[in-house]
Amino acid sequence: MEIVRTAAELSQHLAGAKRIAFVPTMGNLHRGHLALMDIARQHGDAVVASIFVNRLQFGPNEDFDRYPRTIDADKAELARLGVDVLFAPLEQEMYPTPQVYRVQPPPLAEELEGASRPGFFHGVCTVVLKLFNLVQPDVAVFGKKDRQQVKIVRGMVQQFNMPIQIVPAETVRAPDGLALSSRNNYLTPAERAEAPNLYRILRGVADEIARGRHDYANLEVSARAELAQRGWKVDYVAIRHGLGLRIPHPEGYDHPNLLIVLGAAGLGSTRLIDNVDVVPGHGED
Ligand code: PAF
Repeated sequence: MEIVRTAAELSQHLAGAKRIAFVPTMGNLHRGHLALMDIARQHGDAVVASIFVNRLQFGPNEDFDRYPRTIDADKAELARLGVDVLFAPLEQEMYPTPQVYRVQPPPLAEELEGASRPGFFHGVCTVVLKLFNLVQPDVAVFGKKDRQQVKIVRGMVQQFNMPIQIVPAETVRAPDGLALSSRNNYLTPAERAEAPNLYRILRGVADEIARGRHDYANLEVSARAELAQRGWKVDYVAIRHGLGLRIPHPEGYDHPNLLIVLGAAGLGSTRLIDNVDVVPGHGED
């Protein structure tokens, strides 16, 4: 595996590639990321991963400084998986001057994650656009744990006519249901024991919808209350339509199979997010 730090080296190493499949990450790789690399391998003859902890997508009181950085272990895993090129730029390479030009994402970026993390999707879209310009992939793979991110990046690619296929990959879970995430490392043993309840409660809402309930507001309120009662600080539990994550019709006119239940909540000092399809695999647009 080639490890490159600069845009110049990157283009040199990718010069002969016919079809580039790209997995952008912020490192601290776990099985969820590694599954993305396997999917990338099915889509390209050159697999490129990036590791860059993107300051632009962190708010002033968020965990940029303590975000786990485990580059040596990550390199070993990527080499073992046969990734062709790791692009691990330094901050000066990505932002040699203050990044005053930024992508303005759509109103969806102000909802859900964006409501709790103002500016988050401006930062994500800006760095993803820059990474896409540098790597010039044919395909890019994104995990569905960050469901809103998948939808917003796909919309950006469509509206800016970027010839890149966005491939969403299923969330990888621990045996107890907890979605794998680098932020799980922050959890204390007691919090780790509680954490799978986020998935369990979202899955419970999805199962109620599958059984025919369409009193979405009630379902959201009860799920939020159950999490709060268990000690979570809830940002949102939201039932949305797979198509652009719009709010479903309150009379239940939307096909239930296309709905998604998303949630974000804090346990101690750790904020976790997750989402489930009412019918697994059906909530993608
Ligand atoms: O999902 C992530 O890890 C990040 O948001 C991404 C896409 C690598 C952009 O920094």
